Amino acid sequence: MKATKKAPNSEINLREAQRQAVGAARVVGELMRRNLAAKKRANTVTQHDIKLELDVRSQKLIEKKLRAAFPQTALLGEEGVAGNSDSAYRWVVDPIDGTVNFAYGIPHACVSIALQRENPKAGTETYADGYATLLGVVYDPFADELWTALRGQPARLNGRIIRVSKRRNLQEAIVSIGFAKSRETLEATLPYFLELVHQVRKIRIMGAAALALTYVATGRFDAYIERGIRLWDIAAGGLILQSAGGDFWQQPAGPDHTYRMIASNGLLRRQLRVPD
Ligand code: IPD
Repeated sequence: MKATKKAPNSEINLREAQRQAVGAARVVGELMRRNLAAKKRANTVTQHDIKLELDVRSQKLIEKKLRAAFPQTALLGEEGVAGNSDSAYRWVVDPIDGTVNFAYGIPHACVSIALQRENPKAGTETYADGYATLLGVVYDPFADELWTALRGQPARLNGRIIRVSKRRNLQEAIVSIGFAKSRETLEATLPYFLELVHQVRKIRIMGAAALALTYVATGRFDAYIERGIRLWDIAAGGLILQSAGGDFWQQPAGPDHTYRMIASNGLLRRQLRVPD
């Protein structure tokens, strides 16, 4: 679907936007740290997913902070949309990525915030709906690891430039797989899991997509594959990976910003696929 031209609005200072996004991620990170071991209230529970009241609260905190700094922007988050839908800019937010880990007290979860622009500069790679990610912030409050990227500049972890791994053989690779949340994605992914598990050194299923992407960006993992992933899980991490020299392939796979995705160090890309 081709994007429509949105009402003009002033260009955003990306450094300031990054500063605000980092601030918002740290505020929610602190809330996550304080609540890791606490009993949490669930709003919705399905077989393979949990939505917490804290997810909603965290998104509201992020929204308040970002829209106070940039009132003209829109926000698309796991917990709903807000703001000026006529804006060419939108924040794409997963307030707590790895919610099931977090709900069970497993300290592997993060905050993911991206800023996207519709109709970006000519030549900028966009998602199918016409938006390109201009900046990405992923914060793991339990390891105190902050990944940042601004389009066109190197990705950083806690301020230091990072690069993807140089591994080119699947036999020595660590590949992460996500099973998303539905029975359908589980069943479609299992046969590939059974095939890949024999080809790689290790498969890892960690439960936080944005962290899997930043782990590939940092050279800890060599690739990450998921079918049925949502835009707020991948928008920030995808740019961080590309900015660390990796390959981030995505394709729409259904309504509500659903994608199929292969993230890799680039060298392994052609040896991997994503289940149909
Ligand atoms: C989920 C996690 C999980 C991935 C799912 C995501 P959430 O996000 O990132 O690892 O497999 O596809 O939806 O629900 O924890 O924010």
